[in-house]
Amino acid sequence: KSTIVTVVGSINMDLTVTTDRVPEKGETVMGKNFATYPGGKGANQAVAAARLGATVQLIGAVGDDTFGKSLRENLQREGIDTTGVEIKEGIATGTATIMLAEQDNRIIVAPGANSHVTIDMVAKYEKQIKNSDVVLLQLEIPMETISYVTSLAHQFQVPIIVNPAPYQQLPEEVYQAATFITPNEGEAKEMFSEVSPKGLQDKLIITKGSEGTLYFDHKKEKLVPAYSVSVQDTTGAGDTFNGALAVQIGGGATREAAIQFANAAAGLSVTKIGAQAGMPSSEQVLEFMQKNK
Ligand code: RIB
Ligand code: NA
Repeated sequence: KSTIVTVVGSINMDLTVTTDRVPEKGETVMGKNFATYPGGKGANQAVAAARLGATVQLIGAVGDDTFGKSLRENLQREGIDTTGVEIKEGIATGTATIMLAEQDNRIIVAPGANSHVTIDMVAKYEKQIKNSDVVLLQLEIPMETISYVTSLAHQFQVPIIVNPAPYQQLPEEVYQAATFITPNEGEAKEMFSEVSPKGLQDKLIITKGSEGTLYFDHKKEKLVPAYSVSVQDTTGAGDTFNGALAVQIGGGATREAAIQFANAAAGLSVTKIGAQAGMPSSEQVLEFMQKNK
């Protein structure tokens, strides 16, 4: 039986321009290529999990525009259950405007329909949360919805992974209910300027890009090294990591094995431009791990 992953999160169209360098304040630069790619942290994590063979249910929203239509179709092509992906009338689909320069990617998200993923909306899909092996969340939908989903999943004893990106302070009950919290290095820094990592350590999985991933085993720091790859676009690397981690945790893997697998999946994902473009299948991850032992 395949692992059931439920993602409650954002769906964006990524508007990506590649450039030699990003403009300074008040400056215009000539860029290189422009293209649109399916994105949004929720959708990306759902696609990552689906490619890895999980049964994926996504709960989220798009607008009633052409971006929304094509994003919904994209999710369906990936085999994701979009019963919980609503189309919001008269509202724009979320977008992410991305400037992609070497070693420098900058993103502005306009949430649009993602801010309409309310408690009332998600409550309709309570059953999907209940029947899950794991629930996965990020912070591009309203925080009160995140609180609601974590308390629901906690009540159903479903493991919960909260990816605190883009960073915002989490309510205390989310820290309490989450099984794992997965900031990147910058997000972890912001988090610990506000809360003490004490008492949270067992829940923390901190991704550190090309260095690898940190977790704590009985308060002892452990680093699971990253794989070295040739980087084209790191957009969506964290999402690939989280999607893969969810599949592994939902399937009963140990933390260390899950992290190692997720590191490999994320490594493969950055070798192609576009958040979802390089996301691998399980076979590809296993083969890659074998080759890079
Ligand atoms: O994590 C990468 C994603 O963040 C992009 O796809 C973009 O849509 C933003 O939400
Ligand atoms: Na990619």
